[in-house]
Amino acid sequence: MDLSEYCKSLPKIELHAHLTGSLSDETVLKLLRAKQAEGGANLPQSAEVTIQRGHKRTLEECFEVFRILHCLTDNLSAIKTIARDVIQEFVADNVRYLELRTTPKSINGVMTKNQYIDTVLEAMIDEMKLNTITIRLLISIDRSRGLDDAWDTLQLAKQYAAHERFKNLICGIDISGNPRAGNLVEYIPVLREAKQCGLKLSVHLAEVVNEKETLEVLKTELIDRIGHGTFIHPETGGSQELMQLVKDQGIPLELCLSSNIKSGTVKSAEAHHFSCWRKDKHPVVICTDDKGVFSTTLSEEYKICAETFHLKKTDLRELCLAAVEMTFLSQEEKDRLRQTILKDLDKLTHIESV
Ligand code: IMP
Ligand code: ZN
Repeated sequence: MDLSEYCKSLPKIELHAHLTGSLSDETVLKLLRAKQAEGGANLPQSAEVTIQRGHKRTLEECFEVFRILHCLTDNLSAIKTIARDVIQEFVADNVRYLELRTTPKSINGVMTKNQYIDTVLEAMIDEMKLNTITIRLLISIDRSRGLDDAWDTLQLAKQYAAHERFKNLICGIDISGNPRAGNLVEYIPVLREAKQCGLKLSVHLAEVVNEKETLEVLKTELIDRIGHGTFIHPETGGSQELMQLVKDQGIPLELCLSSNIKSGTVKSAEAHHFSCWRKDKHPVVICTDDKGVFSTTLSEEYKICAETFHLKKTDLRELCLAAVEMTFLSQEEKDRLRQTILKDLDKLTHIESV
């Protein structure tokens, strides 16, 4: 089996995937056609306008892409379509466990935040019935929207975490959004309350250089997983103090190579902080971030890692298996997932040996 095929066949775990950023060209085209049929004006002419392949963008340009995608996903029918499509694409890429994340949105007279989340959750339930995948949802707080919106989102997350039908599907809170907007320190009281309510916390941290903010957030000892953490390790522009805080608390890092390279926060695959943390045997999980916007798949991310850092197939197996411990599942659910992954890995080893 060549490396591409092997990476595709691996039973994978995806822990950092933003719903809207994960839209494939096919889904974007479908949404465009629906808008055109309604007679919508000022629409991009093709998916290529929003998702150009093989290009680099600045972070600001990436957030402009999200703005355009949000214009195409401004109704419940579109939300249902994107949730289903994205999940099915992860299934097709052999993802066995998916933690999806999304920012609740409301549009006057069109949809409420509750309807938005209900629609995503119903799509998750439907797809879990049809496919061999387990899915959980992280509700995202957008750091550029201010504190009132963050408290509002936390209320919503608490409501769903106690919801009769959906409570098992909500596993925590994500903080994302433009890392140059707002100050995460202001959100610490929200994080504290979320944690007290039993919600797990994944926080986009040090995606750009911001030592003061990163230090304050790490000192709270509230964080369960770090998104990116690009500028934490002293070898990639962080500091000894930041790295030690992460190591002492054993906080896993969600690493998204293509995202960081294409948005320009990391110069090249070789320069990615994956190697520093791996060398130190710190828990890391390979993720896509926004597979649509950055034109990738989880298999492709494993392949890039393998080629860049000379990983063997056994290393890739270990990365898949280690990700089980980094999920926001209960111990019992982790045990079950580990069994599934192990079984699939054994099958793969058998196929390779004949
Ligand atoms: P949504 O929450 O489903 O609408 O997914 C898109 C949103 O995810 C964007 O508007 C950002 O708030 C967030 N996001 C996606 N990628 C990144 C990233 O690399 N850094 C920070 N935020 C991100
Ligand atoms: Zn992200």
